[in-house]
Amino acid sequence: MSAQPRVAKLSYDRPDWSDHVRETVAELANVDGAVIMALQRLMDDFGYISEPALVLVSELLHLTPPQVFAVATFYHEFRLQKPADTVFMLCRGPACRVDGMVAVRKLLERRLGITVGERTADNRFAIESSGCLGICPHPPAMLIDGELAGRVTTEQLERLIAERSATSP
Ligand code: FES
Repeated sequence: MSAQPRVAKLSYDRPDWSDHVRETVAELANVDGAVIMALQRLMDDFGYISEPALVLVSELLHLTPPQVFAVATFYHEFRLQKPADTVFMLCRGPACRVDGMVAVRKLLERRLGITVGERTADNRFAIESSGCLGICPHPPAMLIDGELAGRVTTEQLERLIAERSATSP
């Protein structure tokens, strides 16, 4: 399974979110591994698994919420919290570590006032990290909202943060 953040297509703010979850689970109910597949679909569709959605999945699959919670927390890529508006996922791989990642990480941490693994209080920005992103000849690499970016510069990040900070949440 991918650890990349996704751009959500749907929102739990929609009044029909539970209908969508019901339809999703109904499609998967008789499939082996239905829990994992249902959670994966919620990640793809909503960007994370809300607590009410997790409880609903458990009811529909005749499981207890703790059973589904155990699955959701076992796999790193399942998120139980709404992702930040902008997620910087920094490559931890060796090529990036030795070529530019320290500078861009420090820039992000200083500019946003958070460290890797944290999000800003207004949930606009988060910094995360990942194993090698597969573009080692183009360090430093990161995913910005799931989009792969290589040879990232501190100037690019400064610009992007300024642009996104200037827009209304
Ligand atoms: S080490 Fe960063 S992309 Fe491979």
